Amino acid sequence: MQIPFNKPYMTGKETQYIEQAVNSGKISGNGLFTKKCQDFFENKYGFIKCLLTTSCTDALEMAAILLNIKQGDEVIMPSFTFVSTANAFVLRGAKIIFADSKKDHPNIDENLLESLITPKTKAIVVVHYAGVACEMDTIMSLAKKHNIYVVEDAAQAIDSFYKGKPLGSIGHLSAFSFHETKNIQCGEGGMLAINDEQFKERAEIIWEKGTNRSAFFRGEVNKYGWVDIGSSFLPSEISAAFLWAQLESLDKIQNKRKEIYKHYQNELKSLEKVGVCLPKIFDYESNNAHMFYFVCNSLEERTGLIKFLGESKIHTVFHYLSLHKSPYFNNQYVGEELIHSDNFTSKLVRLPLFFELNNEMLYKITNQIKLFYEK
Ligand SMILES: Cc1ncc(COP(=O)(O)O)c(C=O)c1O
Repeated sequence: MQIPFNKPYMTGKETQYIEQAVNSGKISGNGLFTKKCQDFFENKYGFIKCLLTTSCTDALEMAAILLNIKQGDEVIMPSFTFVSTANAFVLRGAKIIFADSKKDHPNIDENLLESLITPKTKAIVVVHYAGVACEMDTIMSLAKKHNIYVVEDAAQAIDSFYKGKPLGSIGHLSAFSFHETKNIQCGEGGMLAINDEQFKERAEIIWEKGTNRSAFFRGEVNKYGWVDIGSSFLPSEISAAFLWAQLESLDKIQNKRKEIYKHYQNELKSLEKVGVCLPKIFDYESNNAHMFYFVCNSLEERTGLIKFLGESKIHTVFHYLSLHKSPYFNNQYVGEELIHSDNFTSKLVRLPLFFELNNEMLYKITNQIKLFYEK
């Protein structure tokens, strides 16, 4: 029995809704299913406006355009994140200022931020790692004090909360991913959520290639044309129809993922005795069971564990590689050592977590992990 790291879950309704989209004769973007999905997110999580995109990467690129990021503007973010978090701002000419993670969690250490802020700082991008919230009260009050924007990279954070507030609803802008590895997915997909009225109108223009086509279709202008910069950020109705099927099953998917997470948490608790650090969830936040990871004692231990599990046909993976040490950025980096980011880079391992993981598979995984540590 091969246990993959991920298996995208299909609710069974996806093809039915795709067929509906095809039969409607309207399969380009911004149609009925796009609207259904956007309304769902706005109503459930209270975002002022949502725009589906073809990826979280696209949503981050839209955020960078919306914030008017220009050559030399500084943007603070964690080094322990996916390439797109930084690349979206680099494309606009930003200078990336990497901050370290917390000692006990991959999220950005909010206590380091003030010392990194300069008159050139335009934005802080936080990443809610594994769907677990960054310390948003501190971050938002710092941003207010220094008049800078906050973007939430909520790629992994759908249906997760910070002191009761949905993640993605706290910063000025936020970006979600519906890539097939995420809780809710449509293969490749994403969304920009807007929480500040000033960005509402322009976001729609950027989304539609720099044109006011959306306003035209609403009958607000009698012709549409080129009014700003933008790109083709919107997904087709095929993707939106797929996503709608997933959204209808959001609670079912989340409940199942939380059960799997609980299994890992209970079964692996004993590993703390051998120095393994299990994921930390702070009192003020919820857990959307996006990911189950733990931090090994060393790189060698992690390499051995992944190999051992692989021999039992269990696929486990690691990520991210500190961006400040990446081949692209390495030569530009001038800051301090980011020891916690590097620590997670070399010691963090992710376990399979997908809807169809059954008890037999789960016990096989946790028993094999325990066996590795008994050896
Ligand atoms: C933190 C973070 N940001 C952005 C992305 C990019 O998401 P997408 O593949 O939807 O562009 C990812 C991908 O996993 C991610 O983990």
